[in-house]
Amino acid sequence: MSSYKANDILLLVSLLLVSVTFLCADDTYRNRRAGICTVEVPTIQLLSEHDRKGPIPLGNGSRPTLSKIDVCCSGYARVPHTYYGCEPICDKKCENGNCTAPNVCTCKKGYIHDPIELHKCIPECPIGCLHGVCTVNGHCSCDSGYQLSPNKKYCHAVCAGGCGANGECVEYNRCRCKAGYVLDPVSKNCVFHCEGGCANGAVCVAPNTCACKQGFLKQGSGCVAACPKGCNNGDCIAPNTCKCKPGWTLDKTGTNCEPHCNPECLNSICVGLNECACRKGYVRDPRISANRCVADCPGGCPNGQCSAPNFCICNPGFVKESKGSQNCVRRT
Ligand SMILES: *[C@@H]1O[C@H](CO)[C@@H](O)[C@H](O)[C@H]1NC(C)=O
Ligand SMILES: *[C@@H]1O[C@H](CO)[C@@H](O)[C@H](O)[C@H]1NC(C)=O
Repeated sequence: MSSYKANDILLLVSLLLVSVTFLCADDTYRNRRAGICTVEVPTIQLLSEHDRKGPIPLGNGSRPTLSKIDVCCSGYARVPHTYYGCEPICDKKCENGNCTAPNVCTCKKGYIHDPIELHKCIPECPIGCLHGVCTVNGHCSCDSGYQLSPNKKYCHAVCAGGCGANGECVEYNRCRCKAGYVLDPVSKNCVFHCEGGCANGAVCVAPNTCACKQGFLKQGSGCVAACPKGCNNGDCIAPNTCKCKPGWTLDKTGTNCEPHCNPECLNSICVGLNECACRKGYVRDPRISANRCVADCPGGCPNGQCSAPNFCICNPGFVKESKGSQNCVRRT
């Protein structure tokens, strides 16, 4: 055996790994030692270039020309700095675990496999036991001031006496009102409120919920007073309260605003503050004040005067030319 050099063998073994993989596939060659497979190779391949020229020694393989040697099984790699130790290869590095077989990670105690990325191991306790530590059996061990949940997976703060229906214990003996609630300084209870308050005409009726007051109606994001019977030409300033513009007054029904004209409108109707609109058949006379309208005779009134819509009265000494005519002629 003097012709074998340990270093040569190792070099050859690594070179041969590829060429002998087919032999390794046979389970009967697989050694009990983890990751080490025994393969048979032609003895001549184990000899140095020089020794190959001499007589080839008998090998210990199944045929005299073959020798049995140990190699790392597929999926395993030689442990650095050892002759025969082989370790499994995990393509992705195991996190919180050891690579115990090719592409198999075994989790540390207290860790379980990440359901998606199998090479990762995650603590057995959910969210890593906030306010506590995860113990090996997957249960939390809570910090002082915190209480273990019945399923032993969470730690809850403890508040002596509780925090009431609308509060929650956030820290040892410290309560906080739930969202939409504030502490009432008098009763020391959490009472609902509406953050930022409610718009005009609205009241807070539930946590962060405003509703229109009685007599108000929803309009856009706010509420407006409602005058269901009406408020013509006026503003509904409060429920069932109609307010007229200056110069207008509310009628007896309380639902209509009527304008006022001073002086009164003549042959016209008051339609706004001191604003007269001529009745049909009348026109505004620019020579007279704005509240007056005069009868309109579209064809004019020769020798007469327009006294009513399209009706002329003849001047003294004149008479109508004919019946129904608006022309006045000198009496003969
Ligand atoms: C068979 O021979 C090889 C080469 O000489 C040697 O390394 C190996 O240990 C031997 N195996 C057995 C089972 O004797
Ligand atoms: C993982 O490997 C380390 C270092 O080799 C060892 O100390 C530990 O016991 C191993 N853990 C498991 C679960 O095999």
